[in-house]
Amino acid sequence: MAQDSAADTRQQQLNLIKQADLTHHLHPFTDDNALKQHGPLVVTAAKGTRLFVETGIQLLDMVAGLGCVNIGYGREDMAERAAQVVGELSFYHTFQGATNPYTAVLAKKLSEMTPGHLNKSFFTNSGSEANETIVKLARAYWRLKGKPEKIQVVAREYAYHGSTLMTASLNGLPAMHQAYGLPLDGVHHIPSTAWYRNGGDQSPEDFALTCARALEAKVERIGADRIGLLFVEPVQVGAGVVFSSPAYWAELQRIAKAHDILIAVDETVTGFGRMGEWVYHPKLGIEADFVCLAKGMSSGYQPVGAAMVADHVAEVLAEGGVTQHGFTTSGHPVVAGLCLKNIEILAQEYLLDTVRESLGPRFQDRLQSLADHPLVGEVRGEGLAAGIELVADKATRRQYPLDQGVCGQISNAALMQGVVVRPVGNALVLCPPLVVNDAEIEHTVSVLESALDEVHGRLTGGD
Ligand SMILES: Cc1ncc(COP(=O)(O)O)c(C=O)c1O
Repeated sequence: MAQDSAADTRQQQLNLIKQADLTHHLHPFTDDNALKQHGPLVVTAAKGTRLFVETGIQLLDMVAGLGCVNIGYGREDMAERAAQVVGELSFYHTFQGATNPYTAVLAKKLSEMTPGHLNKSFFTNSGSEANETIVKLARAYWRLKGKPEKIQVVAREYAYHGSTLMTASLNGLPAMHQAYGLPLDGVHHIPSTAWYRNGGDQSPEDFALTCARALEAKVERIGADRIGLLFVEPVQVGAGVVFSSPAYWAELQRIAKAHDILIAVDETVTGFGRMGEWVYHPKLGIEADFVCLAKGMSSGYQPVGAAMVADHVAEVLAEGGVTQHGFTTSGHPVVAGLCLKNIEILAQEYLLDTVRESLGPRFQDRLQSLADHPLVGEVRGEGLAAGIELVADKATRRQYPLDQGVCGQISNAALMQGVVVRPVGNALVLCPPLVVNDAEIEHTVSVLESALDEVHGRLTGGD
């Protein structure tokens, strides 16, 4: 009896939460009609790789929140650090030269973790703000260099760089443009190296070079005197974990350098161990003028981002007087304290080495076993990021129309079996916490196998 009434109370509380949310919460990236129909998913707790939702259902989160919870959820040492810094210095700003022990040390730490020419960080609250900051700093740089007209920016199709007006413009995602009358003037796109979808009859190598040379064509059309910045992600994780070959990166950089175009590398998802490195782009031979960090920087324990600036850019910016840019909580001491603890955990628990040398290869190897499934075109990945590209016809690489929602059906079928994976377009993305174990990987593979079978059965009328 007592147990029944406790369960009733929990259910009533849950209903109240859902009602409050439905009535008052405007959600990001959410279809309002679907939300009204199905109600919100209430997540009440999380530990390690596990989410606890509604009244105690457990889910295995193979997406690490949104690719950010690198050290896993709910660590006591992070909670202790948060409490410690809140007790010491709950807030002070970093405007007009103010700093604090945590933010100063974090800035130094980031410079040690990245290539030698990246030594200054501008702190933000998100990846979007960091990328927005980069665009502004590049504009300031070119003005100081006497070339104020070099304010146009090139990004790639399928790119995701954020949700502000400028960063949404940089995104190569038409749906994010249509709703808001974007892109802003002066933002241009070149093809992504998503060969499986768009490569046609070209070999992957030829297609990649065609994509790189699209930058040259863009420069010819718009003028090198007007393009000042190129934005790239080392891996387009949000597009289904799309890679580009070293030859592509070499060619793209050759063109950018030849036309005096700065390169911004967005490491929001790829940083802090996901690819087995602090930052991934040096491994690809990319030399960055700016680097965007976010997500894994605090493992999602606090909102954070950083725009890192190369020395040669920082030297020019230093001539410009007051930086007319900043956020109230830029370099927040509690956030910086948590980032430092997060970095310490990643290092002390050898999580980068583990991802690079053993866990990552095992994860990729196990996922490859899905490549033979009739619905799977290709399984791509490195470290703890993987994309499973779906296909309707393997011979022609024809895909299901997006409005058929095949990918969403598979991820829903996996969710029904307690595993969270992310559907993006025609690809399932997996990017689990770096503390995921072999049993969880094995379980995920078998759940995905069964989810793929279930949806394939439906599509072929066998179910
Ligand atoms: C590559 C990349 N850049 C930027 C962002 C934007 O970061 P935020 O959501 O913290 O603004 C994201 C977010 O998913 C991302 O994946």
